[in-house]
Amino acid sequence: MVKKNACIFISGFGSNLKSLIHKSRDPVFPIKIKLIISNNAKAVGILHAKKNSIPYLIINTKKRTYENLIFKEIKKNKISIICLAGYMKIIPKNFIDKVNKKIINIHPSLLPKFKGLNTFERVLKKSEKKTGCTVHFVNSMLDSGKTIVQKSFYINQNDNLKTLKEKTQKLEHLAYPEAIIKIFRYR
Ligand code: GAR
Repeated sequence: MVKKNACIFISGFGSNLKSLIHKSRDPVFPIKIKLIISNNAKAVGILHAKKNSIPYLIINTKKRTYENLIFKEIKKNKISIICLAGYMKIIPKNFIDKVNKKIINIHPSLLPKFKGLNTFERVLKKSEKKTGCTVHFVNSMLDSGKTIVQKSFYINQNDNLKTLKEKTQKLEHLAYPEAIIKIFRYR
């Protein structure tokens, strides 16, 4: 199987990155992680890049040149897909158009519900029956592109911020690889 080259964008802990690195060792998993990009030099997730000898790049989104730096790396590494995995910056529309690659994101809610930040707080406040996660294509509007995979669970009375996050992330680590397989299955 010829694997597609992927670039993973992170900002923080990197548990989704870790699970994708693990999955990508499977010879039939469709991507190879060629590059990791973080907008946060202190992101714990960078440790996974180091541990697994995957090249990584730290970007400063305050600098005007940062997009060009990414374009150059995407081209150099022949990247076919960009996976946002806890990347907490908005991808500008001109970037999406110019890079012209598949860009996907994981979000900790059942989109279109609870777009944006502080998802778990809002889910609890609204006394939702169910919650979960969504892997979707990225378009120019926040958390709004076409859904690829969604997974859900029922919230119980004892759930709190911590347990909701744990349960959601457990599903995320299944949903993200599943979405990637789905994208490349017929290609
Ligand atoms: C994940 O729960 C992901 O859904 C969320 O950030 C977390 C990153 O965790 N993303 C967003 O909220 C994007 N809007 P991780 O760094 O451990 O993978």
